[in-house]
Amino acid sequence: MDKIHSLTGMLDLYEDGDSSELSKNIFETEKRIKKIFSNYYLKEIRTPALEDTDLFKRSAGDISDIVNKEIYSFQDRNDKSISLRPEGTASVIRSVIEKKLDQSTHKLWYMGPMWRYERPQKGRYRQFYQAGVEILGYPEGAPEFEMVSLVCSIVEEFNIADCTLKINHLGSQENKKAYCDALIKFLEPLKKNLDEKDLERLARNPLRVLDSKNQDTQLILKDAPSLKEFLEPKSIELLESIKDEFSDICNIEIDYTLVRGLDYYSGFVFEALSSNLGAQDSFLGGGRYDDLCSKLGGKELPSIGMAIGIERFASLIGNSTHSDKILSFITLGSTLEAKTYKIAHRLRSLNKDIILDMQLSDSSLKAKLRRANKNGSEYAIIVGEEEFNNDTVIIKPLKDELKEQQTVSVDELFDFYKAL
Ligand code: HAM
Repeated sequence: MDKIHSLTGMLDLYEDGDSSELSKNIFETEKRIKKIFSNYYLKEIRTPALEDTDLFKRSAGDISDIVNKEIYSFQDRNDKSISLRPEGTASVIRSVIEKKLDQSTHKLWYMGPMWRYERPQKGRYRQFYQAGVEILGYPEGAPEFEMVSLVCSIVEEFNIADCTLKINHLGSQENKKAYCDALIKFLEPLKKNLDEKDLERLARNPLRVLDSKNQDTQLILKDAPSLKEFLEPKSIELLESIKDEFSDICNIEIDYTLVRGLDYYSGFVFEALSSNLGAQDSFLGGGRYDDLCSKLGGKELPSIGMAIGIERFASLIGNSTHSDKILSFITLGSTLEAKTYKIAHRLRSLNKDIILDMQLSDSSLKAKLRRANKNGSEYAIIVGEEEFNNDTVIIKPLKDELKEQQTVSVDELFDFYKAL
């Protein structure tokens, strides 16, 4: 019979990494990022994967690639147009408006799958995971520093090499408009040199031309007016002070050509890139979006947020990421298992920081030790017939060859485990 395959650009993920190292790193990344989020007193929010298509049209902007070409939309049985979320920010804002929470402040995080119908390539999937943060209700100032501090903590915790955090300021609505006018004036006489895509951007959202992948366009843009000339001094000062404060932790670059793919941004924007990622080099992006809430029918809610692309990020973190201590519990002879299980149960309650892998198969000691070595166990706790009859266990060090294995009483095992 024909086998059924997963859809293009959609991964199956196994925490034990059987399918790939990337898989394993994705779970590891999620676990550790959640810890960092809670260090910043962020609280989790979960919103549905499916939303009214209008939500994304009104938030991302009708002319963004995400809404035009990449969104997974379809009619439900009631003939209503619904879409799989391509990103998380719009849903968060929809939710706080709906629950009338848009008059107060919130510090939120979320993690989950997003869908974009893009051409799959390395680092670009049709279903991918994001870890996002939205800080709602605070005007420009402290939240910008909090956000950059969070990005730096993540880069530091995972020791990401070759990372650059690009930052920019899109200015006020007036600054943005004045700059767009200047850009149009500059590009008008050069239109014959632009490709179809850039012409469309010029007509509908001129700032997006700055993001063109066409080398010829980029050459033309070298002489274009700079956004910097249109910004107020306080915006430039913000960028400079963020760079000054955090440059010892992370490589920060002010890039006045940085624009984002979603239309809702205003003010401070940023993107983190790594040269180790290839063409899809941005593993995180975000910025301020002060007008989104009112645009979606809510109150004025000045906000800032960001999202990490988990797959891209996980491919940067290398393989030696296990910081948890693992021990393997091995019983020999299936009749012993039920009785010794109580010991394993007690161990787990004594020290919750240790991962105890109870080996469930009926295989040989050799095979069980092989598995213990493979999963990175520091010790194997072994109970054979003789130990069982004497109320003892063997503690066998697996990582340090100089340490000898020892036979200890069950109480001594409990003390040892507690002290690990
Ligand atoms: P974004 O830049 O569209 O921003 O996406 C954030 C990150 O998601 C990207 O930097 C990238 O790492 C990852 N990503 C995007 N598309 C794909 C894909 N097809 N395959 C794999 N990874 C991908 C947002 O989504 C905003 N909602 C961020 C934000 C939150 N801004 C304010 N609050």
